Amino acid sequence: MKSKEIRESFLEYFKEHNHSIVPSSSLIPEDPTLLLTAAGMVQFKPIFLGKIKPDFTRAASCQKCVRTTDIEKVGLTARHLTFFEMLGNFSFGDYYKKEAISWAWEFLTEKMGLEKEKLWVTIFREDEEAYQIWRDLIKIPDKKIVRMGEEDNFWAAGSTGPCGPCSELIYDLGEERSCRKPDCGIGCDCDRFLEVWNLVFMEFERGEDGELNPLPQKNIDTGMGLERIALIKQNVTSTFETDLMKPIVEEILSLTKEEKGAISTKIIADHVRAITFLVNDGVIPSNEGRGYILRRLLRRAVRHGRLLGIEKIFLPHLVDKVIKVMVETYSDLKTNAQFIKKIVQKEEERFSHTLKQGLNMLSEIIKKAHSQKLSTVPANFAFVLYDTYGFPFELTREILAESSLSVSEEDYQKLMEEQREKSRQSFEGKTFTFSKDVYRLVTEKFGPTEFVGYAELETTSNVKAIIKGENMILKAKEGEEVEIILDKTPFYAEMGGQVGDKGQIITDTGIMEIYDTTSPFPSLYTHKGKVVSGYIEVETSAKGKVNQKRRQSISSNHTATHLLHWALRIVLGEHVKQSGSLVDDKKLRFDFTHFEALTPEQIIKVEKLVNSKIFENHPVRAYITSMEFAKEIGVIALFGEKYGDFVRVVEVGNFSKELCGGTHVTRSSDIGLFKIVSEGSIGANLRRIEALTLYEALNFVYKEEELYRQISRTLKAPFSEVPAKVDFLITSLKEKDRELERLKKVYFAEKVERFLKEAVEVNETKVVVEKLEVEEAQDLKILADALRSRVEKGIFLFGASIKGKAILLSAATPSIVLKGFHAGELVENISGLVRGGGGGKADLAEAGGKSPEKIDEALKVGKEKIINILRKIKS
Ligand code: ALA
Repeated sequence: MKSKEIRESFLEYFKEHNHSIVPSSSLIPEDPTLLLTAAGMVQFKPIFLGKIKPDFTRAASCQKCVRTTDIEKVGLTARHLTFFEMLGNFSFGDYYKKEAISWAWEFLTEKMGLEKEKLWVTIFREDEEAYQIWRDLIKIPDKKIVRMGEEDNFWAAGSTGPCGPCSELIYDLGEERSCRKPDCGIGCDCDRFLEVWNLVFMEFERGEDGELNPLPQKNIDTGMGLERIALIKQNVTSTFETDLMKPIVEEILSLTKEEKGAISTKIIADHVRAITFLVNDGVIPSNEGRGYILRRLLRRAVRHGRLLGIEKIFLPHLVDKVIKVMVETYSDLKTNAQFIKKIVQKEEERFSHTLKQGLNMLSEIIKKAHSQKLSTVPANFAFVLYDTYGFPFELTREILAESSLSVSEEDYQKLMEEQREKSRQSFEGKTFTFSKDVYRLVTEKFGPTEFVGYAELETTSNVKAIIKGENMILKAKEGEEVEIILDKTPFYAEMGGQVGDKGQIITDTGIMEIYDTTSPFPSLYTHKGKVVSGYIEVETSAKGKVNQKRRQSISSNHTATHLLHWALRIVLGEHVKQSGSLVDDKKLRFDFTHFEALTPEQIIKVEKLVNSKIFENHPVRAYITSMEFAKEIGVIALFGEKYGDFVRVVEVGNFSKELCGGTHVTRSSDIGLFKIVSEGSIGANLRRIEALTLYEALNFVYKEEELYRQISRTLKAPFSEVPAKVDFLITSLKEKDRELERLKKVYFAEKVERFLKEAVEVNETKVVVEKLEVEEAQDLKILADALRSRVEKGIFLFGASIKGKAILLSAATPSIVLKGFHAGELVENISGLVRGGGGGKADLAEAGGKSPEKIDEALKVGKEKIINILRKIKS
């Protein structure tokens, strides 16, 4: 039986039992307390907790899952995986233990045809109800019902949240799979007794205090590993041989000649599935959160590839294979294929550059530790490996463990924290602390603010409260800066990337100039400003007047943002996802996922598409509807929406549909004109576009034209000849540059030889400390690199006065870095002498300072320090 048939047969079976079939949710959970989707129940968590009432009380799904808790076991056992599919049926206050148990039994024995004799079950120690159902209704022999403790048979999705006792169905793969230890049996870690299906009787919620409280209703949550049932049905010995994984394993085998690589092969096969699906759902490698999990999996896979002797970039090729195996079930893999491959390729390339050096460093560390008979390695090695060579800590720990060495995670985390602290200090930002108490109070007292600003820009309402600092006051006099709370307001509060409105609030006694509107507490709008004449009092009637022209520009920019989003998806592909935006009256900014810079042609194409939609004069409509309907009509959703929520949809014509709470123009032609003014990177695989509309766009065009006129005047060439003339100038400049480069090289080469000849040697290490006359800081680095390639052991320190500033640069060969020398620390230490600061990595660092006249002194001190350090280093 193919996996596909198992999946279908499972869903079909539960559909026959009146379950709604729900598609797999994303691996990025909506629940902000969870990092990844690790079970079928994740998307139903709010339903289990009774927070949301869905239309159905029974559901079944095949859920993609990623779990890294057992990552160390992957490849060593027949059954552990980081990515897997979970078949599950769920009851939300509907059926309970009897049905859940009977159906699981019937499905396995009748639909799947598993031999009853080979099935065992476990139950929670105190669960008499489950015990009786298994024994009396299903007629399982007493000795095959095993009672287990909380550890094994009480399931929870986390330390808090829904949970309950569970019962597992276990399949005996046979005597020959046993570890043959005397106590081998149910619960043994070996491959004989395979847990196939877990039935959770979810009736509790664990609170922050650890207490169990009954849920409003009793629920069922089950999960069966698709790969495991496939293992049984396909009569193979491990999940890696099922039709879900075998093609991937074979592909890896075709890339390697290594005979002894069975474990590495399996690890790669597993990880590449996780990688593919994570990127498909929008996770991008990074140093934090789920991005870090992805990075860890990917870098671990790359390292195992090298262990198999695969030297070239290989993961994107395997991603193709995964997609081929899975695309029939997960069709979005096809849409995102190029994107996934690019992301994976970039990350593999990034890591490949440093992998070899890092591994060399590690093997030196291991050799040294062994020769000194150490069992642990100082954490700063793991830190340098991470900081300089991009080795995730877990990878370093794993490689060390293969040589029976350990490293302290606690010490490592301390070093990480120190580094974070340093970068925090160098970041010149203020920390803002504010209390929301006063806003909570106001909301409780006066209720939420009614927002009428979609339709009106001027509204009469009442002043409910005036806030000054942390306090409520009754009256604000001329010149005072306060916040005003109205019962009803036309002012839009900063939200969803759109800035808050400005304008005026006018009462019989005074006028207040509003310069920002925000929502510091759910449903509460506060207007910040200054009383410019008279005074304002609570419980008086007030007219709120939004600055119309400004609002018009903001709305224009906001609608244009939707058009831009739509156009980007057409020109670049469906993988484009909004990751942030800012819309104000001057410009719009749109951040999105994409793996490379846009070409000028693509930018023009996007701009033209948007403008054509503006000129075509489409209506812009907004309406409130249910989340379900919005999904059905293909609305682009952002994050965090839940079943049962009402949402606002904004449509332009019939092509752009987005969930959005912002303000918009009424027809697309109100935008006038759209101009992209910049496109750039804001992080790995994240791009940012800035654009203008209306007058700002027009002014931009005029300014560009003026610039062009100036260039044409300076070059003394008519418009049409400017490009040719510029080409000519650049070509001749390049020729001159090349000549200069050539001369520089000759000059540098002589210098390097001279430096080496004159270098002091301490502890077999060449020490070169020189003051140089160069034009650019870059030249110092070129010189340092030239020296590094000429000697095996060396430390170099240069100083130069460049454009009135002191520059210090230090570099060292890897062998010296390994012995503990840190160029960053050296440079940091002496930079004070030139009244400056700086630092860097262990092998290369630079500092700048305000006192070039002190360079000689700094170099002298630096040299002494280097010599001292070298004397202390034992070879
Ligand atoms: N949620 C249960 C599990 O993951 C079914 O085992």
